[in-house]
Amino acid sequence: MRLSLRFIVPLVLALGAIAYGVVPLVDELTLKWFVRDLEIRKSLIATAVQEPLVELLTDKARDKVRLQRVQDFFTRILQDERLFALGFCDSAGKLVYRTPTLPPDVVCRESGLPLEDAGRVVKRGSSALHVGASPLMVDGKRIGELLIVHDMSFVERRSADTKKYIVYLFAAIGAVIALITVVIAELSFRGWMAGIKALIRGQSLALSPEPKSRELRPIARDLEAMVRELEGERRMRDESQISWTPENLRNILREDLAGDQILIVSNREPYIHVRKDGRVDVQRPASGLVTAMEPVMRACSGTWIAHGSGSADRDSVDAQDHIMVPPEKPAYRIRRVWLSKEEEAGYYYGFANEGLWPLCHIAHTRPVFRISDWEHYQTVNRRFAEAVAKESHTGNPIVLVQDYHLALLPRLIRERLPQATIITFWHIPWPNPEAFGVCPWRAELLEGMLGSSILGFHTQVHCNNFFDTVDRTLEARVDRETSSIHFGGDPTEVRRYPISIEWPPVPLAAQPPVPECRASVRAALGLAKDVRLGIGVDRLDYTKGILERFAAVERLLELDPHWIGRFSFVQLAAPSRSSIEEYQSLDARVRAAAMRINARFGSKGYEPIVLKIEHHEADQVYTYYRASDVCCVSSLHDGMNLVAKEFVAARDDERGVLILSQFTGAARELSEALIVNPYDTEQCAAALRAALSMPPDEQRHRMRSMRSLIQEFNVYRWAGRMLLDAARMRNRRRVTGPRDAANVIDLRRA
Ligand code: G6P
Repeated sequence: MRLSLRFIVPLVLALGAIAYGVVPLVDELTLKWFVRDLEIRKSLIATAVQEPLVELLTDKARDKVRLQRVQDFFTRILQDERLFALGFCDSAGKLVYRTPTLPPDVVCRESGLPLEDAGRVVKRGSSALHVGASPLMVDGKRIGELLIVHDMSFVERRSADTKKYIVYLFAAIGAVIALITVVIAELSFRGWMAGIKALIRGQSLALSPEPKSRELRPIARDLEAMVRELEGERRMRDESQISWTPENLRNILREDLAGDQILIVSNREPYIHVRKDGRVDVQRPASGLVTAMEPVMRACSGTWIAHGSGSADRDSVDAQDHIMVPPEKPAYRIRRVWLSKEEEAGYYYGFANEGLWPLCHIAHTRPVFRISDWEHYQTVNRRFAEAVAKESHTGNPIVLVQDYHLALLPRLIRERLPQATIITFWHIPWPNPEAFGVCPWRAELLEGMLGSSILGFHTQVHCNNFFDTVDRTLEARVDRETSSIHFGGDPTEVRRYPISIEWPPVPLAAQPPVPECRASVRAALGLAKDVRLGIGVDRLDYTKGILERFAAVERLLELDPHWIGRFSFVQLAAPSRSSIEEYQSLDARVRAAAMRINARFGSKGYEPIVLKIEHHEADQVYTYYRASDVCCVSSLHDGMNLVAKEFVAARDDERGVLILSQFTGAARELSEALIVNPYDTEQCAAALRAALSMPPDEQRHRMRSMRSLIQEFNVYRWAGRMLLDAARMRNRRRVTGPRDAANVIDLRRA
């Protein structure tokens, strides 16, 4: 309203000023018109009276009678309300007849003046008279001149009326303009506000449904840049200040992603229903991926699409292959995808685990690539893509694609849901271009992955390796400065997102105090109370360095025999991928190594290596962590390794020592661990010795530091950062609109 007033007041003043200037102009103009009218009138009167007047003037009657007749004639003519006076001048210029009303200063012209004389206006007090003269002709001879005086008071009256109407007119125009202005200003203001609000929400003006916000387009870019800058600042501030919790994650989903649908896709499912002794058990698989993603899903409540691999999985789902989990407190649902035995063999055991797994891990196991496996891999990726399309309620869900089993999936989803935001996370290392180059379908895999909006790795080294690999394999534009790769369509942002665990870990809540854990584990293992304990928790996988770990234990006992009988190393090894020969052979070698070492250093009631090749639930694993003095993570190559983080998280007593392979992603974060090269047995043995003799204060100091890091950089932050980046990307897409097809260079593979 104030804005409108600010506009209307000057408008009224301007119109007043215009009216003030226009009125005299109109006065002058109308006067001219009236004078011209009176001239015409004068001529008409002169013409009309010519004949009777000449008759009267030439009448032979006496002068007096003639005078009287002319006077009467003049008086009759004066009946006309505008005619004020008449006079007649003879040819000598003498006023011979006149009406009494003829002003004395109206005199005859001298003879010989030009006949056609324009009338003149003579002021009479507040009014005016128009005095005109018209020659009277008889037989082409001028016998005199008729003076015709018009009263111009009507001009005054009309002029006053005109002025009044002009003022009214301007007032009316002013009012109408003001009204229209207020309405337009109000509407424009709303349009601008809507436009600015849309910009702040991150929507594009180009796509804005508000046509009124078009006026903002010239400044839209500046506004957008400002909004982005502020958002960036806010995010950085938020990220550094937030202590990341499930609630934060839910807030991001609610506020930054407006409750958009979240779909997670992975091969491994978080809950497996297995038939055991006639009843159905629910198992949590040993998988870093599941450990990380499960708490995220509990917070996000989306749908997790995964292979239904359990023997009782089919019996547990509804007609849509859905099941709500966790069983004790359902929070999200699993959508199971079914595979035939052949498909599982080719896609999972074959291409994923005999091909890609050894390809990406430098563990000196040769990758095997078979065309039949590749075909199954493609078929199964397509099946997952169909499931994603089916589960998607909107055209633009956020799809979190997990790991190397589904490298083709991002592009397959992109083809089905072009507006989806696809975040792919690669949980394992990415090798250098030479190593990756041995894969016969390297280009197809990369093309598939580059269907992602965001592609995440644990470390910058993996990101760099990926850039190098794409550079070497595809004709794509790799922009390291913006960490993005352009390969037709929207670019893929390649970023480092070090994965983590939930904080505090759920299994910790039910744990007894550390002394109780120590006692119960030792009792369960039949070990003396004071035996120092080492722990290793892994899938039985050749990348985990289990044999190297055993070698270090053996070396310790060799070098420091006083630990014989006083130190045991418990290895919990979850059976994994056991249909694969390499894994079967590892199983055998691990068992043999444990037996050999136990035979060498063991005695009755004492085993230096306690090998437990079986599935352990998280609660049991946490009890082992808490019961141990040292945890050994000796992976030969590992994307992150969450066992290291779990061990630290389990030790709320701030005791225990972590020995950590330098070839894990975790080693880049947990620098207070004893970092070792697992291939260096001497170094590992020395680390064991150092760990077993580390003073409690030093243990506390190291643990505290690692615990605060994991607490801060927990899995909610990991997921939150990816989702915030996805939100930013979706906002930017709304602002800039979809990429113009004309600007997209269709880059074909090399
Ligand atoms: C690694 C992979 C995961 C996988 C896990 C367990 O952590 O990155 O994708 O789930 O191993 O392996 P499995 O073959 O049993 O799923």
